[in-house]
Amino acid sequence: RKRTAILISGRGSNMTALIAAASDPDFPAEIVGVISDKPDAAGLGVAIARGIPTKVVARADHPGKDAHDAAIDGALAGFGAELVALAGYMRLLTTPFVEKWQGRMINIHPALLPSFKGLDTHRRALEAGMRIHGCTVHFVTPAMDDGPIIAQAAVPVMLGDDEASLAARVLKAEHQIYPMALKLVAEGKARMEGGRTVLAGFADNDAAA
Ligand code: GAR
Repeated sequence: RKRTAILISGRGSNMTALIAAASDPDFPAEIVGVISDKPDAAGLGVAIARGIPTKVVARADHPGKDAHDAAIDGALAGFGAELVALAGYMRLLTTPFVEKWQGRMINIHPALLPSFKGLDTHRRALEAGMRIHGCTVHFVTPAMDDGPIIAQAAVPVMLGDDEASLAARVLKAEHQIYPMALKLVAEGKARMEGGRTVLAGFADNDAAA
């Protein structure tokens, strides 16, 4: 089982979905720790209640972004992490940190990338008049929300949707695809190679190659 740490900044519902999936001993990743940059992140309490070690690495306790990410890297080493899953971690990571973990760090984004990178994705999807929206799990690369895609799920935009109703529909899909994507990475079936995702043993991918 691949030792996996989760980085959060808030609620932690995706973290909770990953912890739940990994509670199955047959799941190829185990969650060895949760790190938050926010001391008051609600997800910390959830992790503690499930017996997962947690650590707060607050930005305010470090002189700069490099020092902050170095401290996060130290915390990852302390957990013996082999993989990192960003789950609502709302801070851009520095290039040296991302390069160190490249191919071993994944993120979930609440939009169908490469559309709607960045923040306020649900509001922007509504404003754009999208009829389909969704979520993406991708390998993390230095450019924000830009790394190779591992998994996506689409949801319909319904008449009368507001930001909250659309966000809730997307979030349900996030909770389904994130454990699936972590499973693929942990068992080595989704790998990052030459800036692309290679999915092993999928006919679809062989056809594209
Ligand atoms: C999720 O919707 C996640 O996709 C998004 O924040 C939310 C966190 O919720 N992430 C980003 O916007 C990353 N830029 P959660 O804390 O309940 O998992």
